[in-house]
Amino acid sequence: MRRISYLNHDQTLFRDIDVFDPSFVPEHLHHRDAQIQELAFLIGPALRGARPMNAILRGPPGTGKTTTVLRVFAELKETSRRVIPVYINCRQDRTMLAVYQRIAEQLFGHTSPSRHLEDIRDAIAANLRAADAILLVCFDDAEYLITAGTYNTLLYQILRLYEGWDDVRAPGVIAVTSDLGMHLSAEADGAVRSVFLPCEIFFPPYTRIEVREILTDRVRQGLYPGVVPSGVINLAAGMAGDAGDIRVGIALIRAAVLWAEEDGRRRVTKEDLLAVAPGIRSPALEARVAALTPGERALLYRLAERSLSGEEMVSGAVFEEMRDYIAVGKTTYHTRLRRLAAAGIIDLLRAPGGRQVVVLRYTPDDVFAACARAG
Ligand SMILES: Nc1ncnc2c1ncn2[C@@H]1O[C@H](COP(=O)(O)OP(=O)(O)O)[C@@H](O)[C@H]1O
Ligand SMILES: [Mg+2]
Repeated sequence: MRRISYLNHDQTLFRDIDVFDPSFVPEHLHHRDAQIQELAFLIGPALRGARPMNAILRGPPGTGKTTTVLRVFAELKETSRRVIPVYINCRQDRTMLAVYQRIAEQLFGHTSPSRHLEDIRDAIAANLRAADAILLVCFDDAEYLITAGTYNTLLYQILRLYEGWDDVRAPGVIAVTSDLGMHLSAEADGAVRSVFLPCEIFFPPYTRIEVREILTDRVRQGLYPGVVPSGVINLAAGMAGDAGDIRVGIALIRAAVLWAEEDGRRRVTKEDLLAVAPGIRSPALEARVAALTPGERALLYRLAERSLSGEEMVSGAVFEEMRDYIAVGKTTYHTRLRRLAAAGIIDLLRAPGGRQVVVLRYTPDDVFAACARAG
């Protein structure tokens, strides 16, 4: 029997296209058993009615931090009435009111009619007492609270929510960040540190083999068999590895399948992947660039220009030119370089003779685009 290799216009290659959505929580989390177990261990006491331990989750973008929290929280919701997990996306909710309303929503099923923080806080405490439950709040991308100036106040108020109330149990906090230049425990002020003694859980970048496994699994879940051959998955894994972001791999496959589908074919080729690649920007780079200060961004932009024109990337030479361009001293210049390295945008290598060389991790074009988007 001849294999039908062309699609009718109403056919699709996707079993479930949502599997390639950025907010999709996969059935199985690969290579994160250690982190899941550690997090479960820290939360453990709450299941027995005691104060949970606080946690900081750190790791570059796309290392499964958000997914790990959402998985553990989903399981908590299913198995325990004693712990009430509340997930806060701090990119969206970073004011005191927004965060308290999000907690109220989880507890009462709707936001509070009051706009007074104290009223909402009291209602939250009363609800926890009535339910004899322990509140567990995750602040995802918590660096946004720091820039919003609410980080310390929120942590302090939430961790001390039990004060002034009989029989309200002490809550726990999980703070998550993808910004490796940011130290969430060091950002806590003295008053917060007396109640916030977090254990840190690190999420290392995935190796290329791990990325390949994760992508293979996603393809299996979201597409009909045979649509994406393993060679194409390998190429996508390689490109995601170069970008340092697994999201790039997922987005590439989704776009390549749509491309092949549009063309009426049942099988994705490497050419499809290469055709859609220029349109796939690295969300990791965008997030990293958006978190930079204007001065750091100006330096990055100039580095990309130099790299594009093939000029020397020795840091001393870059400084000599930069100092005419933006008036900064050597110390500030080196601080900015280190920040760019800590953010995972450049590498600082030692060349023979002790000279320091700057290497961009992304193409100049990607850097220009990310800078333009960041404004
Ligand atoms: N271990 C994993 N197994 C399966 N999918 C994963 C895994 N880690 C990350 N992903 C997927 O990669 C994307 C980014 O993961 P995410 O948890 O948002 O990363 P982070 O919060 O560290 O930036 C999501 O689509 C997620 O489903
Ligand atoms: Mg995340």
